[in-house]
Amino acid sequence: MERIEASTLSGAKNIEVYIPREKILAKVSELGRQITLDYAGKDLFVIAVLRGAIFFACDLVRHIDLPLVLDFVQITSYGDGTESNGRAKITRELDLSIKDKDVLVVEDIADTRHTLFNLLSFLNSKFPRSVKICSLLNKESRKEREVPLDYVGFDIENKFVIGYGLDYAQRYRNLPFVGVLRTDDGEIMK
Ligand code: IMP
Ligand code: MG
Repeated sequence: MERIEASTLSGAKNIEVYIPREKILAKVSELGRQITLDYAGKDLFVIAVLRGAIFFACDLVRHIDLPLVLDFVQITSYGDGTESNGRAKITRELDLSIKDKDVLVVEDIADTRHTLFNLLSFLNSKFPRSVKICSLLNKESRKEREVPLDYVGFDIENKFVIGYGLDYAQRYRNLPFVGVLRTDDGEIMK
């Protein structure tokens, strides 16, 4: 794996590239093409989940060749650590109505899926015509809830990933690639 110099990125140490930027961008463009085909003739309502998914959502919508609107929700299920607590709270509401709309939720990562499960029940209470989910990353082995993922960029192992929007304690979102953190004793963080 490519090692990144300690001082160059986000002031961090021991970051390794896990999915390089070129691979992410190629996948994002492929997802955009597929979504464009699947929703042909429709008017799309894209919901990006703050904060992690905005980087992915901004790149993705530019590969979707359809009329669409973009709105945001924030749902919080994590503290500053790396473990889900299973609870989720909507901390930023949608601005626009999704009643009778074809909604595409854009998320950075599906881990236990508690967040997406809670988000779906929140969205379904607002009577959209349809709701699909597009997640850049998926940790299948961590799944605790049955939530169908309609579009997935990469299935990944159970590692804690950072970058391209994903944070560890709010840091590293600005890395242009998806990376993993190695602790001082050489272990990859989970
Ligand atoms: P879930 O509810 O366990 O599926 O967790 C989903 C949320 O947890 C994501 O939207 C992320 O904000 C966060 N998360 C889960 N795994 C990771 C990771 O490996 N890196 C950074 N954030 C993560
Ligand atoms: Mg998130």
